[in-house]
This record gives sequence, structure tokens and C-alpha cells, in this order.
Amino acid sequence: MCGIVGYVGKAEAPQALLQGLKRLEYRGYDSAGMATLNGSGLAVRKAVGRIAELEKLVAEEPIHGQTGICHTRWATHGSVTRENAHPHFDRSGKLALVHNGVIENYLELRAALEIDGHFFKSQTDTEVLAHLIGREFDRLKERSKGRLVEALRAALLQVIGTYGIAFIHEDVPGVIIGARRGSPLVLGIGKEENLLASDAAAMVSHTRDVVYLKDYEIVALDAEGFQITTLQGDGAGYVISQVEFSEKDVSKGDYPHYMLKEIFEQPRTVRDAMRGRLAPEEGTAKLGGLEMSNAELRDVERIVISGCGTALHAGMVGEYMIETLAHIPVECEFASELRYRNLPVPKDTLVFVISQSGETADTLAALRECQRKGHRTLGICNNVGSTIARENDGGVYMHAGPEIGVAATKSFTSQLVVQSLVALLLGRITHLSHSEGLNIIRELEKMPDKVAKVLELNDRIARIAKKYAQSKVMLFMGRQFNYPIALEGALKVKETSYIAASAHPSAELKHGVIALIDESTPSVFIAPRDAVFEKNLSNIEEVKARKGPVIAIGTEGDDRLAQVADDVILVPEAPDFLTPILMVIPLQLLAYHIAVELGRDVDKPRNLAKSVTVE
Ligand code: AGP
Ligand code: GLU
Repeated sequence: MCGIVGYVGKAEAPQALLQGLKRLEYRGYDSAGMATLNGSGLAVRKAVGRIAELEKLVAEEPIHGQTGICHTRWATHGSVTRENAHPHFDRSGKLALVHNGVIENYLELRAALEIDGHFFKSQTDTEVLAHLIGREFDRLKERSKGRLVEALRAALLQVIGTYGIAFIHEDVPGVIIGARRGSPLVLGIGKEENLLASDAAAMVSHTRDVVYLKDYEIVALDAEGFQITTLQGDGAGYVISQVEFSEKDVSKGDYPHYMLKEIFEQPRTVRDAMRGRLAPEEGTAKLGGLEMSNAELRDVERIVISGCGTALHAGMVGEYMIETLAHIPVECEFASELRYRNLPVPKDTLVFVISQSGETADTLAALRECQRKGHRTLGICNNVGSTIARENDGGVYMHAGPEIGVAATKSFTSQLVVQSLVALLLGRITHLSHSEGLNIIRELEKMPDKVAKVLELNDRIARIAKKYAQSKVMLFMGRQFNYPIALEGALKVKETSYIAASAHPSAELKHGVIALIDESTPSVFIAPRDAVFEKNLSNIEEVKARKGPVIAIGTEGDDRLAQVADDVILVPEAPDFLTPILMVIPLQLLAYHIAVELGRDVDKPRNLAKSVTVE
């Protein structure tokens, strides 16, 4: 889950590298480092902590050069120290390498290298890679770009694990070599400059022409051009894609945090998730990316939805949506469990994997396991060209634009919209009439304005957040479509505020959780006026009877919640299956404001990273 950037061109590399690296801070922020080739050799700076620390160091002790690599780390092997910060070096000290991933057989490789006289300075798995490549290179007489690639190939053939790497070598100035397996790597093609990064967001101020490298590909780049080959040594075909977003999309603008900016983007992102996909004349949704005919969709007997964290919560809402609208049985599975579980999946099962980043290691593994078993897999992804998006048999993009805050917000509501479209499409193939389909479309079309209305409650939610920010424990309760929203609300609070929060179906309270209720433990009830409203009300009464403070999220026009709850947030009404899209927004804002009130690092919570590319 680290982020890497490489720059080779006519500009000063340190500035370009730092600018790009800041766009990747969501991928990890334990330590950061860079190395440049400055004409006489390697210049290196490393700092523990955020990228700002590296920036400070580079300002105080500048380094120069027009070729360089840099890294922001989320530690997997070896603690957070300067020694373990990347780049790492080979035995000669002439090769500097940055890495995103995990080298699984590093202990064996390291032991063999030590017998060979290699000495290691860090506890990382990464340093082994640098030594291996350096050793292979030193065996070759000629010092050229081609030989560097040759050495890399020989080294990678010994390696088990995942990597997105970039390295430079003093003896071959003006060149960066990169390779990937399992971790993302994107090549950016500029004018008299070329770049390499874990994510296109790091390069958009230089170019929007990119090549998404595939697993087992190697790229060699200099200021004038690039060559892509495979690990086996063959030439590799490639496609140049245009990045859809601009620099503006990856900056905070006037917002204090990305999380708040992304929450406020939701009227647009909810619209973009359905744009061009509603077909009122047929009363259905058009999802060409699924690459399945209606006849094939008709044969779907069962659906499995998988993902991690927020994406799985979205999938759980999808389960209710699809079962309600299309009457097809759905099962939701943690991707991390699905990948190792021998789930009996009958024939004619369709698998959906949901992932904002499209790079989550567990989700990718679950997808591959399902494909290995012969199932058709479809993706709901945001990151265009990501590994999961590419490896699926088809899918639907969210079109939410880059999401940078570590806490997922806008991607969640986009995932809900996309799944409501899938449910509508499947429902129309099975049993929904044209007019029922049309009603759903009309309701979907109203959602962006309703989302905008919820956002008007921001100041009120900030006041409520202040009142409860010092809580040690928070409980979140919901039923049916909104039970997963309770899970999502609790996750948002946990990850941004570090408050212990747990979520439960409201009626489960009395089976144990109610023991936690006291005057200092607030319960957040998601209680829209839906089919289970009365039941939720009784559950709120049970909490109040035990003096527990209650925050209730309900439907505009309701006056009963105010009689029982301490604080009430009312959002526009919507059909039951669409209420989660509106209900989750106050919870996102609540978590955001509690985190701000507590002085937390909202966009970069401790111990986390946006894209979890390790197991
Ligand atoms: C969400 O706030 C979390 N940071 C996390 O649970 C996230 O949703 C999960 O890691 C899945 O990520 P993905 O959608 O990129 O696969
Ligand atoms: N394994 C490397 C380290 O610990 C890279 C980690 C990663 O990509 O998350 O530094």
C-alpha cells in the first residue's frame, strides 16, 4: 500500500517527485524518501513521518537532478524507522529502489545473499530486491539500459510476492526501470519527460496520457521515450489511455479536508453514477459494461457480492436491493474470507466484486478464485484501468472521480446507485412491469437533489457532533436496508475518530448489546419512515428507558422521533431501497465533525492507507 513515483525529464526531479508523492499520501504515510541522480551519483533524502517531513528536509538540504524516484511507505516488514524508509540500495550503493508490495520469500533470499557476503541495513523485504538486482547487474560487464532490464528479469525470476517497483542506477544515468506484479504501476507519457507512479493522480500536472502496466511487465523510461517488455523478455503491446480527471479533481480546493470535499461532491457523483444509464422508454437500466445479454442475465440463479470494508457494506445494501427488486438470492462475503473459503457456489451464479480503488489485494484474490472456479465475475470499480476493473469479465464504473480521503464517502453512495441500477435491470428482466421500472427511474432521478438537501444539514450535524465527540463508545443501529448503513456509520467513526463504535441490527440490542447502554453511551438510530419504522421506534424506547442518549436519523415530516430521541436529523423521503443513499450522508458528516472536534488527522487516520494492496 505504499506509493511510488519516478520522474525523468528536463525539470528538477525533486519538485516533480514531491508534487506527485503528495497525491499518493493516501497510500501510506509512515515514512517517505527520494533518490535522484545528480550527475555525480545518487543523492538521497529520507524522513520518518508524513511527506511534509521529507519536503521540509529537502527544503533544508536540497538535492538536485533530472532523474529520480520517491516513495511514501505503509510499513509491512520492519518498523517505522529511517533505515526502513525507502529507497533501498544494493551492495554497491549505486542502485536505489522503491517498492510497493511484499516479497514473500525474502528471508530465504536474504539468507542466501548474506552467505554471498551481502550486508543488510534495514529489516524490510524490499532491500532484498535491491541487492538481487544489483548483484545480477554487477555480473554483467556492459553498463546500459538493456543490461539493467536484463538484471531485473534475472532477479525477479527468483522472487515470490507482489511488487510495483522503480529503480535508478548511477552507472546508467537518465533512466528509470519499473516492473509490476500485483501492485499497480502507471506510466505517464509527457513532452520530453516521462513518469512512473502507483496511481495516475500523481502525474496529472504533467500529463494525462498514461499506460496502465500489466502484471509481469517491465518498463524502461528516459526523457525521450519508453520500452515495455515482459518478464520473459518479449515485447509487450500497450494502450495509451487518457486520464479522465484533471489536477483540480485531485486538489482540496477550498475545503479543509478531502473527506469534506468528497462528501459535498455527492450530488454530482450520484448523478454521474446513473448518467446515460437510465432508459425511461424501456423502464430499465442500460449497463453495457456488464457484457451480458438479457438472455444470459435471465439465467442468473444466484449472486455473490464481495469486497472489503465500505465496499462490502455497499454490497450488503445491494443484497437487499437485488433480492427486493429482482427476487434473486444474494450472498455477501468478505473478500478476505471468500478467497480462502470453499464456498459452494452453484452453476449460474454471478459474482460481483466491489472496489473503489480496484487494487485491494483481498478483493482481487477473491475475484481470481471465483474465476478459477469458472464463474463469471463483474466489477463495480471507480479507478479506471485498475487491476480489478481489467481482470473482471465485465462491470460498471462508478465515475465518482478520484477519492483521496482515506475514509470512503462518495464512492459508497456511487456503489449504492450502481447496485440499484443492477437491481432494476435484473428486476425488469424477471418480473417488474414497465411502469414499475419507470417509477424506479423517476425516483432515482430525484436522488441528486435530495442528496444536496441532506448536505444543507451540515451545520446542524456539526453541532450535534460537538455534543458527542468525547464519547468513549458509540453504537449504531438500523434495520433491513439500513443495517449496513449502521455498519458504515460505525466504520466511519472508528477510522476517523478512533472512538470504539459498533453496529447492530436494532432488534439485536436486547440480545446482549443493551448491556452497554448508559448515560454516556450514545446510540445512533437509522430510522427512516419505512416498513420497519415502528419497530425501530420501539428499539429507541428501549434505549431511552435505560437513559442512553439517542441520535436518530429519520424522514422529513416525521414528528415521532423527536418525542423519543435527544437529537433528530431528518432527510428527504425516498422509497425504502433508496433510503440508504440519504441516510449515510449524515453519518459521514457526523464522523467527519467528531474527528475534527477531536483534532484527528481526518484524511489520513493513523495506521491506515487508502488502498490496501497487501494481504
Ligand atoms: C473505508 O472508509 C475504508 N478506508 C476501507 O474499508 C475501504 O473501503 C476498503 O479498504 C476497500 O477499499 P476498495 O473499495 O478500494 O477496495
Ligand atoms: N514491504 C515494503 C515495506 O515494508 C512495502 C510495503 C507496502 O507496499 O505496503 O516497506
